[in-house]
Amino acid sequence: MRVTIFGTGYVGLVHAAVLAETGNEVVCVDTNEHKINRLTNGDIPIYEPGLQPLVQAHSLSRKLIFTTDAAYGVEHAELIFIAVGTPSGEDGSADLSHVMAVGRSIATHMTSDKIVVVKSTVPVGTCDGVYATMREILVQRGLDELDVHMASNPEFLKEGSAILDSMKPDRIIIGTDNREAENKLRELYAPFNRNHEKIITMDMRSSELTKYAANCLLATKITFMNEVAGIADRLGADIESVRRGIGSDPRIGYHFIYAGMGYGGSCFPKDIRALIHTSIEHSYHAGILEAVESRNSAQKRVLFEKIKKHFGDRLHGRIFAVWGLAFKPNTDDMREAPASEIMTMLWQAGAKIQAFDPVAMPECKRLHAEHLASRDLLLSDSKEDALDGSDALIICTEWKAFLSPDFDLIKGTLKEKIIFDGRNIYDPVVVKRYGIEYVGIGRRS
Ligand code: UGA
Repeated sequence: MRVTIFGTGYVGLVHAAVLAETGNEVVCVDTNEHKINRLTNGDIPIYEPGLQPLVQAHSLSRKLIFTTDAAYGVEHAELIFIAVGTPSGEDGSADLSHVMAVGRSIATHMTSDKIVVVKSTVPVGTCDGVYATMREILVQRGLDELDVHMASNPEFLKEGSAILDSMKPDRIIIGTDNREAENKLRELYAPFNRNHEKIITMDMRSSELTKYAANCLLATKITFMNEVAGIADRLGADIESVRRGIGSDPRIGYHFIYAGMGYGGSCFPKDIRALIHTSIEHSYHAGILEAVESRNSAQKRVLFEKIKKHFGDRLHGRIFAVWGLAFKPNTDDMREAPASEIMTMLWQAGAKIQAFDPVAMPECKRLHAEHLASRDLLLSDSKEDALDGSDALIICTEWKAFLSPDFDLIKGTLKEKIIFDGRNIYDPVVVKRYGIEYVGIGRRS
């Protein structure tokens, strides 16, 4: 099948690669010429396991074509996905300018019927808005007889396991009342829907809300556990034991109940804010969402408060080793990463950072260039190098490479023998056995 995808961010690029892998002829359109040139040369702007070989192989076989030419993209396929970004605006609302611009571009160039599918995470009613705008343009162009078959098809992939998530989705939501669109999407997704039915159909608005509800519920689960961890800290209980105890109930489940430094990334924070904003617009008080948002901001300070408690006001001139910069493992993404927040608080207190991350160092260099220049931040060649001369170790991302460290080396190298574990990856009992003090999130230590 011929498919065009507008937007070569995480969602668009992964979707394109996976659709090319299942035999489709995919054209990716992006307004960013630099990015398109890089992609055409097989240079992937993001770190995502498994993505590079797929993009390179299918670019070579011309199953995947990158272009800035919107007219060519519109001409190429009947089925067109909109997968551009919807960043948070100043007031927390989702910025829909890119989505609407793509809708206008399709309507401006189309000369035959099109199936337009919104994959970007968009507030309820956006698909209706895109449709209305497209119809207006078609009327202006005197092409009123052309059909636009509209659908919402949100994406549920996770960064770091995006290819796998797309190849083996838990569910495929098709939100449309339009038969043409539904049938075409069913055909496109048939290779991913083989063993049991994963397609769930509904109306467009419910589909748009499903995406927000999923992310907001997951963020709520995490935040609830962070709150219980705060209670555990004060009562001498252990959040990891509590996690295992409650996760065993299938109604609760083991997923997304790990206490930590607060959720980050490009999706949960943005989507919570957007749904709060939509609720306010409709005079509805989304109290739980507001609590999750403010509780998560507070959670990002918790480890810093623990560091302050240990060192008192004597943080000035101290050096902290930070292991992990990405907002989670298997990605180089540092958007709303707890590591950035804790480093900023430490810098404000006059401390210095020696950091190591297996893949996010270039991104950290880009984001915190001024601290590199002032030598408040040093990017170390290895996790061991980061310890050299440091007072304490802070764990910010639970990369596999950090799970079984050489505790003797840590003890021998750190000036104050203490680990602040923002991801609860170590067993406090084991760490203490090595003569190292351990501070986690809600851990009994
Ligand atoms: C999230 C959703 O999980 C995806 O289903 C969704 O498609 C995606 O947003 C999106 O809307 O595009 P992602 O942002 O890649 O995916 O990352 P997650 O794995 O969900 O992690 C989000 C944050 O929660 C991370 O900072 C992570 O460390 C934190 N987290 C996660 C916890 O603190 N505890 C947990 O138990 C789980």
